[in-house]
Parts: sequence; C-alpha cells; structure tokens
Amino acid sequence: MKVTVLGAAGGIGQALSLLLKTQLPAGSDLALYDVAPVVPGVAVDLSHIPTAVSVKGYGKEDLAPALVGADVVLIPAGVPRKPGMDRSDLFNINAGIIADLIEAIADNCPDACIGVITNPVNTTVPIAAEVLKKKGVYNKRKLFGVTTLDVIRSETFIAELRSMDPANVDVKVIGGHSGTTILPLLSQVEGVTLSDEEIENLTHRIQNAGTEVVEAKAGGGSATLSMGQAAARFCLSLVRGLQGDTSVVECTYVEGDGSDAKFFAQPVRLGPNGVEEILSYGKLSGKEEKAKADMLDGLKKDIQTGVDFVK
Ligand SMILES: NC(=O)c1ccc[n+]([C@@H]2O[C@H](COP(=O)([O-])OP(=O)(O)OC[C@H]3O[C@@H](n4cnc5c(N)ncnc54)[C@H](O)[C@@H]3O)[C@@H](O)[C@H]2O)c1
Repeated sequence: MKVTVLGAAGGIGQALSLLLKTQLPAGSDLALYDVAPVVPGVAVDLSHIPTAVSVKGYGKEDLAPALVGADVVLIPAGVPRKPGMDRSDLFNINAGIIADLIEAIADNCPDACIGVITNPVNTTVPIAAEVLKKKGVYNKRKLFGVTTLDVIRSETFIAELRSMDPANVDVKVIGGHSGTTILPLLSQVEGVTLSDEEIENLTHRIQNAGTEVVEAKAGGGSATLSMGQAAARFCLSLVRGLQGDTSVVECTYVEGDGSDAKFFAQPVRLGPNGVEEILSYGKLSGKEEKAKADMLDGLKKDIQTGVDFVK
C-alpha cells in the first residue's frame, strides 16, 4: 500500500503521519507532501522510527511524484479555525486548495481512495467530486469525507458518562460535519440506555466539541491530535478493505443514494473497491428524525456551495 498525506507538515498531518508510520502494514510506503519547507524534515524524523514502513518527504514542487502509485490519499491541507470562526469561514481559502490538490490526484493517481479532512468537509467533498467529474475520473466509491472524529468523540463521551471502556462503545454519526448537521444516533448505542436529558446534553457536546478544542487552544488552531487518531483509524480501515477485508464498517461522508442529501455521512462497508455497500443507519427516534429533517436544508446548501464553486 502507498498512502500519501497532503498537508503532512501541519498539526493533523504530523500526528497522522506518526500514527501511520507505526501502524500501517509492513511493506507500506508513506509519502508526505506539504508546501511548508519543513516537510522533508518531518519525513527524516519519522524515518528513524523502526517500523517496516518507508517514509519519503516531498516539497512544494514535488506533488506529482508524491501521488504517483498512491492507493490512498489523505488531505488535511488548509487553514484551521480560530476562536469565533465557523467551519464555513474557512471556505474562501480551503476551497481553492482542495480543488488544486484534487486536480493533481486526477492527473497522477485517479484510482486512489481519497479521504478529505480539510474543512468545511460538507463543501470540500462536493468540490472534490466536481473536479474529478470535470477530469472524467470521478468514482463515488472512492471519495470520502473523513467524519471519524465525530464518531470517536461520541464514543469517548459516552464511555466517560457510563464509566465504560471506550473500545466497547460503538456509535453511528450521520449527516455532515458541522454544527447541527452532525447527528449522533444516541438512541441506538448497543448496551447503553440514555435519558432524554443525557441525549440532549451529549448531542450538544458532540456537535460543539470542535469549538471546545478551538477555544481551549486560544488561537493556536483546532483539533489536531484527536483528528490525527481519527484519520489514522479511517485510513487503516480503508487499507484493510483494499487488502480484501470486507467486514470493515465506518461512518463517512459519501455520495450515497441521495435519499437524504447527495452527500451524507452514513455507515459504509469498505472493501477492495472502496465503498462496497452503503448500510442502513437503522430506525431513528422521533427526536433524531426531527433533527435530521431540520438540518437537511443547511447540508444541501453546503453541498450546492461546493458544486457552484467548481462550476
Ligand atoms: N475533518 C475533521 O474532522 C477536521 C478536524 C479538525 C480539523 N480539520 C481541518 O483540517 C485542516 C488542517 O488542520 P490543521 O490543524 O492540521 O492545520 P495546520 O495549519 O496545522 O496544517 C495545515 C497544513 O496544510 C499545509 N498546506 C496549505 N496549503 C497546502 C497545499 N496547497 N498543499 C499542501 N499542503 C498545504 C500547510 O503548509 C500546513 O502544514 C483544516 O482545514 C481544519 O479545519 C478537519
């Protein structure tokens, strides 16, 4: 497997690259690309860790060789939030970065699975799809918005509340990756019954957990370490799927059947083709149904903004 990280010198990029260096299957290649001049140093630093994963750094002018032969490309390139900013405030800068990087992916590794981390994910994923369509290489089974951070936060907060081992908590999070479009299905958590009040409080905390980090970092950026872990989990699941394991399920923001919105985070079974199957997210409680109905217009608007940007 060759995994390429675009934006590898950033807060998320470095944490993610460290986890991939220590956890990718033996024999994998890790390609680290960034426009920041420190990226070759990040690669040298990681290369001293004794695992059977080779690491190579690629500077600003070397995007094409970083991408050639990639099976998976993860994109945490772009600016993060500062206090007082909403994820949509990042659109003006990050939309152009994503469009350029996706164009290079289309030219150099059109068959790769692409995991978009750059915010606003609700909009950057539709941008990626439109750019790939223009290039004639769009495959909806291979384009993913990485929403795993919402899942791991949900699992952590529920485990804390019930004094459980977080490894035994499994939560589906559907919708999008911003504000109320993040919809954790807390009525369905196996082995855990939550009161209406607990569900309300947890839902609010999960939807605002990104802001909790942004405020605590006080201008120093947004979630990087937990996001690195979330992206590594998603990447390792993708890799297991690509290597033939068809039992891996993750919630991720993909183009599904469009019954809710054209792009929608939902449980997906991964495999050699990327998305093997879009799974049902099951029966929602009355409150979850209403929360979904209330947020769909906003999510659809976010998606349209991405489509219009490329057109
Ligand atoms: N999906 C999620 O759940 C989630 C969670 C947290 C943050 N994010 C997003 O991830 C992105 C990165 O966050 P961060 O904290 O790592 O930011 P950061 O500023 O620490 O790192 C971003 C990196 O991207 C690089 N970069 C900028 N333009 C580039 C380009 N054209 N090509 C390659 N690299 C480029 C920068 O040089 C920098 O090293 C932000 O958009 C942030 O909002 C997403």
